[in-house]
Amino acid sequence: MHSLTKTKIVVALDVHTLHDAVRIVEILRSEADAFKVGPQLFVREGPEIVRRLKAIGVQVFLDLKFHDIPNTVAQAVALACSLGADLITVHLCGGADMLEAAAQSVKGTSTLLVGVSVLTSCDANTLAVTGVSSTVEEQVLRLAGLAVQYLGGGVVASPLEILPLRNFFGNSLQIVTPGIRPTWALGDDQKRTLSPLQAAQLGANWLVIGRPITTASSPLEALLRIKKEITTGFVSKTGGC
Ligand code: C5P
Repeated sequence: MHSLTKTKIVVALDVHTLHDAVRIVEILRSEADAFKVGPQLFVREGPEIVRRLKAIGVQVFLDLKFHDIPNTVAQAVALACSLGADLITVHLCGGADMLEAAAQSVKGTSTLLVGVSVLTSCDANTLAVTGVSSTVEEQVLRLAGLAVQYLGGGVVASPLEILPLRNFFGNSLQIVTPGIRPTWALGDDQKRTLSPLQAAQLGANWLVIGRPITTASSPLEALLRIKKEITTGFVSKTGGC
């Protein structure tokens, strides 16, 4: 079993405005390890949202999942780095040249470049209609191999793939898992999910959790409940937050 104390929690700020994001960050900053800015917030607020969160003093995961020709991705990653983002994502299916170019852009910085394997909202059918006949697990392992080879070993995968990833690539791989659903929260559009405790026990380094926290009537209570479940190993199935 993985050491639970090492598991970090990233709160996904999938809200519309800087104002809403800052309000959540102020409430949760003492309990969360990082905050994730995705396309929803970035398209509305632009780079200012990253600068603002860095000025508050929190770690920022800029999750724009770059996937384009190598030169475009390299420039975008360099600009994301210069904003001060602590973690940045690219799609591993962009291939070797794109990943190599992205990796060049973070060289010499403290930014962790993480590769997205198969989205947690996807299943075998989603892969099949795009011409991928492998199972989800096979495809995640294949793409994670590219993360190890080109990015230095950070991968985003669902919690269902933590065990095969650990077995295949060992403990140095940084595993970031969205698709985290406490027993008391809704599944939403996520298909490959486990609870925070299960994901932590399996050895995830970072848990990315959005709506179970941000849409809770008390986001702080929801985050504290998740942390308590992880540290005590006890999950109370009743009640919401
Ligand atoms: O609200 P929820 O906990 O489902 O949020 C999960 C977050 O993780 C979202 O911001 C989503 O964009 C992101 N994500 C994901 N699956 C991936 C990569 C990122 O759900 N494979």
